[in-house]
Amino acid sequence: MTTALITGATAGIGAAFARRLAADGHNLVLVARDTGRLQQLATDLHDRHGVEAEVLTADLATEDGIAQAEKRLADPRNPVDLLVNNAGFGNKGRFLEVSMADELTMLKVHCEAVLRLTAAAAGPMRERRRGAVINVASVAAFVPRGTYGASKAWVVQFTQGVARDLAGTGVRLMALCPGFVRTEFHQRAGMGTDNIPGWMWLDADKLVGAALTDLARGKTVSVPDPRYKALTGLVKLAPRGLLGGVSSKAGRKYGPQ
Ligand SMILES: NC(=O)c1ccc[n+]([C@@H]2O[C@H](COP(=O)([O-])OP(=O)(O)OC[C@H]3O[C@@H](n4cnc5c(N)ncnc54)[C@H](OP(=O)(O)O)[C@@H]3O)[C@@H](O)[C@H]2O)c1
Repeated sequence: MTTALITGATAGIGAAFARRLAADGHNLVLVARDTGRLQQLATDLHDRHGVEAEVLTADLATEDGIAQAEKRLADPRNPVDLLVNNAGFGNKGRFLEVSMADELTMLKVHCEAVLRLTAAAAGPMRERRRGAVINVASVAAFVPRGTYGASKAWVVQFTQGVARDLAGTGVRLMALCPGFVRTEFHQRAGMGTDNIPGWMWLDADKLVGAALTDLARGKTVSVPDPRYKALTGLVKLAPRGLLGGVSSKAGRKYGPQ
């Protein structure tokens, strides 16, 4: 039996990873800020699938939260075989409408935590000569889309670079780049979603299934779903200026401040 540590496991894509990995018989370490929700999920998954599910309450926007997760990943008595760096959020507003503190919090959670947890997990995995890291980015990584898109572009570049550095060690890395997924993300960020067409929405459970298939196939970047594969193909061909015009508007309708 192997163990997976999932950040942002209380909701959305992280909770979908937890459900799927528990169903596949993996023990879990569930990380997020809301202890009550984590404990409920851990109990449900233990009762349903008989797996061990630990709860680690940690705010990955803080030094202490990141350090706690690093410590758990480095514990040689309870090794982690799969790390899913999934915790993330959107800020409400465009550049200069969002406070600098909130911009920096996003970089802390999306970049610093991902960097440090990947290092904490990959070192012991390399010693054991097996393990995998999935870093949840976004298709926003491929288009101009504020600090959010820039932070996710970092996740993709970082993951591709580390995957190359660790090639042949038994440690695999994959950046997962979803399109719009029905989760708590948009509501939490105060984003209106009525200008996002129905066909663009993905289901979190199906997304996770496709991601794990791509990981097993050895992909370094996963863009699940043919619709988004086609869109990212078009993005590579489209002029940058046109792209910025479309991508900076789609799904970025914010409610009152
Ligand atoms: N939904 C989409 O359309 C979409 C598309 C592309 C990429 N993504 C990416 O997918 C990932 C998951 O998002 P989601 O859609 O599943 O959103 P979600 O439903 O809002 O879930 C976000 C999760 O992240 C956790 N989290 C947020 N801030 C945290 C912090 N400071 N420390 C620890 N945990 C934190 C939340 O838990 P607590 O509140 O309990 O801490 C929650 O479990 C994110 O990285 C997001 O950027 C989402």
